[in-house]
Amino acid sequence: MAQKLTIAGLQKRYRDGQPIVALSLYDAVTAAFADEAGADVILMGDSVGMTMLGYEDTIAVTLEQSLHHTAAVVRGVECAMVVGDMPFLTYNTDVAEAMRNAGRFMQEARADAVKLEGGSSIAPTVSRMVEAGIPVMGHIGLLPQRVKVQGRYRIHGREAEESQALKDDARALVEAGVFSIVLEGIPSELAKTITESIDVPTIGIGAGIHCSGQIQVSHDLLGLLEAYLPKHAKRYANLANDTREAFKAYAKDVVNGDFPGPDQSP
Ligand code: KIV
Repeated sequence: MAQKLTIAGLQKRYRDGQPIVALSLYDAVTAAFADEAGADVILMGDSVGMTMLGYEDTIAVTLEQSLHHTAAVVRGVECAMVVGDMPFLTYNTDVAEAMRNAGRFMQEARADAVKLEGGSSIAPTVSRMVEAGIPVMGHIGLLPQRVKVQGRYRIHGREAEESQALKDDARALVEAGVFSIVLEGIPSELAKTITESIDVPTIGIGAGIHCSGQIQVSHDLLGLLEAYLPKHAKRYANLANDTREAFKAYAKDVVNGDFPGPDQSP
């Protein structure tokens, strides 16, 4: 029988040296495909803002939107661990509010865990969540929720000071109790050093091959966003074109009176 992946199961996979497969997904249908394909972790990422909701960044995504999409993903999944991404300012105003919001991911959306962007500065919040029974995935390096402060999306940790800060952040998050850390947009060698220096799995995106696993935004892999493909992503399908062609064919059939045909008629 299909079995749900637990934190203990993920830790075992990590200890056995099995690469962890993670994907950002936003709806029940594609989450079910990823589950069937053997994904270990499905993140309902706040990239939902750009991929599904038409925003230009993740900052616009609200708690309600994130809960709504996380619940949909949960409904599509049998085995993978589902992580809900806590949106901008839902976990860094005060700890009590962060706890209540994280609790909503667990109770209302029925996520298995939450993800928070940030390092040492949010470690006390992470620690409270873990104490209360909420598994937390960390996220350091390029932090999309801080793009307005950081100025642009760029590789982090090339300079010695920033590199040291990221190593310190990873350690602080592990001490606070995270079960895993996303490393986004950092040099491969730094990702390797961090991965080797902590005892929880690192999940890389734009962080090279040495992480314990990889995560990608499903829309990039599926070729749904034609305008831009990040350097770290690879297209495994061209669904933008397939979708456009299917809609065109349908429109043509309706205009020509070819749809519905005898097979689709009562
Ligand atoms: O929002 C997201 O999809 C993410 C992943 C890219 C890690 O945070």
